[in-house]
Amino acid sequence: MNKDNLFTLDYFISHRGASAIAPENTFAAIRLAKSYGSTWVELDVRFSGDKELIVFHDSNLFRTTGINSSVLNKSYKDLKNYDVGEWFHKSFKGEKIPTLIEVINYCNNNSINLNIEIKTEKGLEFSIGSKVQETLSKSWSSKNNLLISSFDFKPLSKIVETQKVKKMILLEEFSKKKFVKYNLNSFYYFGLDFKKVDKKVITYLLDLRKKVLVYTVNDPLEAKLLKSWGVTSIFTDFPKNLILLDDG
Ligand code: G3P
Ligand code: MG
Repeated sequence: MNKDNLFTLDYFISHRGASAIAPENTFAAIRLAKSYGSTWVELDVRFSGDKELIVFHDSNLFRTTGINSSVLNKSYKDLKNYDVGEWFHKSFKGEKIPTLIEVINYCNNNSINLNIEIKTEKGLEFSIGSKVQETLSKSWSSKNNLLISSFDFKPLSKIVETQKVKKMILLEEFSKKKFVKYNLNSFYYFGLDFKKVDKKVITYLLDLRKKVLVYTVNDPLEAKLLKSWGVTSIFTDFPKNLILLDDG
């Protein structure tokens, strides 16, 4: 088998878990993604105040917990008691903030391929990359695929690629100038914003034999159009079986 074939993506990656039907970045969102056919899940990972790797999107707790505080002002001991399910719907009351290690163990045991997006804080960009790498070395199962992404290339510099672990640079907006200035050609996987991307940019990267992933796409027609342009995967808030394209 060609080495490259050992790492395979699906067209649909459940963004923050199945975040259209469950609270984002929770076990409920991962379970529902899997039960509705997703084989790939994207989750956001950041540091707590005491440098635990937790699964949480925002730098402030307010949107999903109602507590107006920076995540970095709280230790994991505080964070683990917060409810991150009820804001979405009362039926999810009791969902807690997972740690990266809890999620990794779950993915290992349930054949889930994971995209960990590393969220950075000023001054901690390299240390979070190192901590993620350390955690993966100890715990990621060699059976499943793992994609590590970030808008910041500093944490990615600490990630070691293997046949089953790949890195992706996320860009809010692609420009050829940026591509050259930051030596982005060293990356093979690119994550681009649906609102800012067009066919020209996608074709440019595909012609360079890059893989192009696009976030966040919830409309089946848009998903279909991007597929016809050669996009590798989309990040969608829906699980795979709820965003069916009519050609499968
Ligand atoms: O990885 C794609 C996407 O998750 C990036 O944006 O803000 O949803 O983490 P955000
Ligand atoms: Mg994300």
